[in-house]
Amino acid sequence: MIITIDGPAGAGKSTVAKLLAERLGFCFLDTGAMYRAVALAGLQRGIDWAVPEQIATVAETVDIRLDKDRVLLDGQDVSDSIRSSQVTAVTRHVADNPRVRQLMVDLQRRLAFGKNVVTEGRDQGTLVFPNAELKVFLTASPEERARRRLRDLSAQGESPTFADVLQAIVQRDQQDAQRPLGAMRRAPDAVELCTDGLTIDQVVDRLELLARQRLPKL
Ligand code: C5P
Repeated sequence: MIITIDGPAGAGKSTVAKLLAERLGFCFLDTGAMYRAVALAGLQRGIDWAVPEQIATVAETVDIRLDKDRVLLDGQDVSDSIRSSQVTAVTRHVADNPRVRQLMVDLQRRLAFGKNVVTEGRDQGTLVFPNAELKVFLTASPEERARRRLRDLSAQGESPTFADVLQAIVQRDQQDAQRPLGAMRRAPDAVELCTDGLTIDQVVDRLELLARQRLPKL
């Protein structure tokens, strides 16, 4: 059984998807973390981001594993370093690369095969798992997402301004929506939930209820 959670950066998808997976006893698939891990590998190898073949070669030769909520890149735990602003800034080159996307989509389908999974990203309900039993499109206003992102970044010791963070979020929404392949879109059969003013628990409660209504055997 597959539950997809798509939506813009900062809507709380990872946190919510992870908690929902725990409550239901499902596996959790963080697909943004996979693109981020390829980006980190590219930074480590010092590739030229203007050369798509170099990015594709990185994706073809890295070993990415997801172990519960930890991300392993060639055996190293990179769960924290893939969230840095430096990695975020180059991840779009990775996510816009058609060869990389094909590799990641194949890997996502392989990882989910035969399992009960909550998967989150941009294209999970539209492209990767069009037959998912429950599709969710999770949103929040750009201002709310900027406030959350600012909190996360200051916890990591970074101190950008609110205006800069907001601008980066709006820019990333545009990139995510305009990407020729795997663009962020709400699947026509997805349930849309705006998380402004809701606590994480309230969001997870609503999704758990939806999941149990849709999947009566749970
Ligand atoms: O969700 P997160 O911010 O970790 O995703 C990192 C980047 O990877 C996003 O900006 C998005 O462009 C890209 N992404 C994607 N397809 C996915 C998940 C993430 O293109 N399924």
